[in-house]
Amino acid sequence: MSQINQSSTWKSLHQHKKDIESISLREMFHKDPNRFNQFHIQLNDLLLDYSKHRISKETISLLVKLAKEVDVEGWRDRMFLGEKINSTEHRSVLHTALRNQSNASIICDGEDVMPKVKGVLRKIRRFSEEVRSGQWKGFTGKTITSIVNIGIGGSDLGPAMVCQALKPYGSKSITPYFVSNVDGADLSQALEKCDPETTLFIIASKTFTTQETMTNAFSARDWFLKTAKDNQHIKKHFVALSTNQHLVSEFGIDPENMFEFWDWVGGRYSLWSAIGLSIAIYIGMDGFEDLLKGGFEMDEHFKTAPIEQNIPMIMGLLGVWYINFFDCPTHAILAYDQGLSKLAPYLQQADMESNGKFINRDGEHIDFHTGPVLWGEVGTNGQHAFYQLLHQGSEIVPADFIMPIESHYHIGKDGNEHHKILLSNFIAQTQALMLGKTYDEARLEIENQGYEGEDIESFIPQKTFEGNRPTSSILFQKLTPKTLGQIIAMYEHKIFTQGIIWNINSFDQWGVEYGKQIAKQVLPKLSEKTLTNNFDSSTNGLINYINKNK
Ligand code: F6P
Repeated sequence: MSQINQSSTWKSLHQHKKDIESISLREMFHKDPNRFNQFHIQLNDLLLDYSKHRISKETISLLVKLAKEVDVEGWRDRMFLGEKINSTEHRSVLHTALRNQSNASIICDGEDVMPKVKGVLRKIRRFSEEVRSGQWKGFTGKTITSIVNIGIGGSDLGPAMVCQALKPYGSKSITPYFVSNVDGADLSQALEKCDPETTLFIIASKTFTTQETMTNAFSARDWFLKTAKDNQHIKKHFVALSTNQHLVSEFGIDPENMFEFWDWVGGRYSLWSAIGLSIAIYIGMDGFEDLLKGGFEMDEHFKTAPIEQNIPMIMGLLGVWYINFFDCPTHAILAYDQGLSKLAPYLQQADMESNGKFINRDGEHIDFHTGPVLWGEVGTNGQHAFYQLLHQGSEIVPADFIMPIESHYHIGKDGNEHHKILLSNFIAQTQALMLGKTYDEARLEIENQGYEGEDIESFIPQKTFEGNRPTSSILFQKLTPKTLGQIIAMYEHKIFTQGIIWNINSFDQWGVEYGKQIAKQVLPKLSEKTLTNNFDSSTNGLINYINKNK
């Protein structure tokens, strides 16, 4: 099957890029003083300003045409209807069912999944309310004050990011900890802060086989039993979030304490499922349901808005524009909100585990760039780390600037000084990246600073800025559960859009298996006394060096 880069629209986009790249954003804004009105979309209290992108109306119409050629809307509808679009695992992709607020049935394998989804939500509500109210007691009759979520990847990043972002809504009497790394430091540092009598362990693992998670889970159980002694106390301090009831009960967790989810929920799309138990305990079930409502609102928008008015589709198409036509291999997530400090790491899995692939749905090697290297840091910290590169680097980095209009925190003069400074930087940085600074502007600035003679000539180039560095500005009223739900679903659907354009199955992750397989062969060699020569000379050299020096 011919790849999308063979299409006439793709070729037109390449030509269009040649036509448009010589027009600066400065000129575009000069030519059309209402450019902002032309290139922004609002959904409830979420605003996407994409006017600072290297686009014209023609760019958008060509990108929309490309989306239609690959039937993005048809694929979207098939996903929502439960078709098995995860073709290599023969699974539906129905994380949207987890947040479905309508009364519509959602059929998977001939069965309406909604009764099961609602049943688990009721169980989460009941359990989270028992823990939060103190009704749920530990083996010595004390209430729970710490929850330790043990999971990795999608069984960690989502709940950890949401709990961090929604701290203003978090319980003051229950502290959440997230342990993911098999590095003993992760679990040890969490346990140092916990008391076995008042700690609830949440073992989060879709498969209940992941090496890091199970290693941490057994060590946590050993730590707990050192104090509790009796296995019968496990049921008061360990619950499981999984699809694998057999392995859960083999671990010693009462099936009654298992919160199930299903194969049609991908790990990196699972925070809306039982994997979100820690969120419900921390912010309360009403807050968790608001998160779901936010996700649902974005789903409805994604399902119904025409492509040119569709926030996730426009974001996805803009990403394709830079990745495939400007050869920009990375994308930055710059949230001007300390609560969103874990958003970039979360989106790294969501995006790069979905679209970091070079084989398409037809088993062919893909001849063009696909998923971007996604990275980021909260503002204003990033300004003191890598904005030099963003402004004057040789690489152009398309970036999403994300910010709430209102803060949860009122500190400094008039209780809003800090947030105003943050807002001013948020706006200024995207303007500076867009405008740049010309040679003459730099000269004038330097002269006004009192520099004289030949110093000026050599100094001016250092102070010039190309500009034309594309950014999206995403503004919302306040970081609430509902708004966060909208933002997360927005990115899920952006990733979906790009996967369809590139003809990628965004829902499997075969690439994560290979390294783990080799690790299983290496592990026993690290306990041997004799020299190993089973591998390549580097691997043998490293193993033997470690064995000699440990
Ligand atoms: O990274 C590989 C992966 O399978 C992810 O897709 C998943 O979120 C993570 O490992 C954890 O898997 P599990 O929830 O089954 O422990």
